[in-house]
Amino acid sequence: MLLNASGCLDALTAPDVARSLDAFVTKTVTPLPRDGNEPVRIAETEVGMLNSIGLANPGIDRFLTRSLTALAKLGVPVWVSVGGFETDDYAEICSRLDDHAEVAAIELNVSCPNVEAPADSASQIVAAARLATRKPLWAKLSPSVPDVGEVARAAQAAGADGLSLVNTVRGLKLDSGTLKPVLGPGHGGLSGPALKPIALAAVATCYRATGLPIVGMGGVQTGQDALELIAVGARHVALGTVLFSDPDSPARVRAELHAAATERGWRSADDAYAFAVQEPLSVGTTLDNRSSV
Ligand SMILES: Cc1cc2nc3c(=O)[nH]c(=O)nc-3n(C[C@H](O)[C@H](O)[C@H](O)COP(=O)(O)O)c2cc1C
Repeated sequence: MLLNASGCLDALTAPDVARSLDAFVTKTVTPLPRDGNEPVRIAETEVGMLNSIGLANPGIDRFLTRSLTALAKLGVPVWVSVGGFETDDYAEICSRLDDHAEVAAIELNVSCPNVEAPADSASQIVAAARLATRKPLWAKLSPSVPDVGEVARAAQAAGADGLSLVNTVRGLKLDSGTLKPVLGPGHGGLSGPALKPIALAAVATCYRATGLPIVGMGGVQTGQDALELIAVGARHVALGTVLFSDPDSPARVRAELHAAATERGWRSADDAYAFAVQEPLSVGTTLDNRSSV
């Protein structure tokens, strides 16, 4: 399946782009409305985009009464990204989404670098969400941890059905003249091309650690990028930053992915996943990483 990455597509203003995906993932929804961080919120860098949106969203009440009904009319399965500051926030939203047939799956954003880190651990959040809903649960993890495989295993043990990898990593851009941060809150989350090697390593590690289905994302711009994520264990691929510069990228990436697979003599991208299944790539443990520097 080809999806969008949370926060990178407004399906209601670009319905045709949303319809070109196999599922639409919402911007992260929190219990209360959030205005987000002070501007400036987006900056370009040499290697991708920095954002510090700060989870601006209408909150779960307005999301349910307004956005969800409109999104359901698009005819694309809707995955709702859920965020919060404490375990109870996640559990509350999950239980409220549970009754809504329009919600195909829930992605738990336990990894946003633009808000203070959730006080509770990923596994606690997944466990509480698991008790609150029967919907499929995807845990979206940060690659900025010593051993993402360990976090993935904990999420699996707590009841995650799948993993979304990766969220942005924290970065800083300075104004070349003032040498002060360009973004309002100072730091932001780095996305785009710089994330691709990080995403490949995280997907390979977590696939090997858990065998769970994975939505791979991070710097995907071409069908070859998508093929590589699938070849290390991603079952699905999401497009993020590329949607800002190329809204037609879903159709293009899908065609390029098929071409890249058939050029290798494979029938489809499914054969790339079979490749990952047969030979899960070992990218080393934390210890190996340390000894490689
Ligand atoms: C402007 C912007 C807003 C984002 N908002 C969210 C969000 O609300 N929730 C979330 O889980 N990830 C959010 N992300 C992270 C993306 O979903 C994705 O994990 C990340 O950008 C890596 O993919 P990419 O390199 O293809 O963009 C956001 C990214 C960008 C660029």
